[in-house]
Amino acid sequence: MREIRPGVIPVGALDWDRRIFDELIPLPEGTSYNAYVVKGSTGTALIDTVDPTKLEILLGNLGELGLDRLDYIVANHAEQDHSGVIPRILSRYPSARAITTPKGKEFLKLLLHVPDEKIQAVQDRETLSLGDRTLEFIHTPWVHWPETMLTWLREDRILFTCDLFGSHYATDELFVSELGRVYWAAKRYYAEIMMPFRGPIKGHLEKIRPLPIGIIAPSHGPVYRKPELILDAYRDWVSDRVKNEVVIPYVSMHHSTAVMVHSLEKALADRGVPALPFNLTVTDIGELAMALVDAATVVVGTPTVLTGPHPAAVYAAYLVKILKPKTRAIGIIGSYGWGGRTVKDLAGILQGLPVEFLEPVLVKGLPTSADLLALDALAEKIAEKHRAYGIL
Ligand code: FEO
Repeated sequence: MREIRPGVIPVGALDWDRRIFDELIPLPEGTSYNAYVVKGSTGTALIDTVDPTKLEILLGNLGELGLDRLDYIVANHAEQDHSGVIPRILSRYPSARAITTPKGKEFLKLLLHVPDEKIQAVQDRETLSLGDRTLEFIHTPWVHWPETMLTWLREDRILFTCDLFGSHYATDELFVSELGRVYWAAKRYYAEIMMPFRGPIKGHLEKIRPLPIGIIAPSHGPVYRKPELILDAYRDWVSDRVKNEVVIPYVSMHHSTAVMVHSLEKALADRGVPALPFNLTVTDIGELAMALVDAATVVVGTPTVLTGPHPAAVYAAYLVKILKPKTRAIGIIGSYGWGGRTVKDLAGILQGLPVEFLEPVLVKGLPTSADLLALDALAEKIAEKHRAYGIL
């Protein structure tokens, strides 16, 4: 079997075929559930496990290693794709204990019914000796659950980060040396899963800055032999810097809203502001989430259905609300036939985001030339703001 370092062996599973995660997140490139055996002179640890669908692969890999004894199962994160088979691994290796944060202990008991006596909670920066190797546990709550931690293998300078720095990207390549396609998979992962926790992640990046990291080994996607590749990408994504871009998630029933979107897009382009329209009837929400990572402005486009926004626009607005991008300004445009509460309903969903709300442009029926002038004015207002942000 391949090794990351002598005695540090990947034993997880690839999932080439999985196409959705949490019944929500598209996985166009599959995923992997990475788990790692760390052999020390006096103890052996398994870092993370696999999704329950891949138990047999993990057991097969442990069998291939001839691992008769396991002392510790480190649960960096209690979500089922990493911890779901801990009860089965504990049955196979009855002398092992699960190692996790105090909050992780609660979750392992609550979600997986792991017996209390089988779990050892560790404090922030607590260490565990495997003889000639030392594991140090670094609490990093909210990436992306409250119990998460990282595991630092001191002597080998390997940081096991579970979801943090991960990517839903199935590949036979163990290491990534150039970001290439993995950059986009990692950005998609950040956008869909980590972006709401931009604040805590900034703090965690500072917390791990003093570590002389040689390798970052996440539990999804390839291992980073050049940690700066992914650390620099994360530093950029979590920074307060925004890009001169306008994301326009929209839906149109009778083409009037589409006319408005394309008119706004052209008016923005004329002012040097690139627009990224996403037709919500065909959009992969991961692509939309990725665009939200950097864009300075979002404009939601919707027709009025019955008395309010189209459900697809409600969904998009709700995504923006829960993903909490660093977007600075949000607008609403759309067409209606005889009235309704479209702006009020969408604004209600978006309420609470630390953004500036732009004057909405709602028009009756097919947009007239006067309506298109209002969109021109909106484009000018957005360009002004982007100049004020120093990005245009
Ligand atoms: Fe990969 Fe939050 O689990």
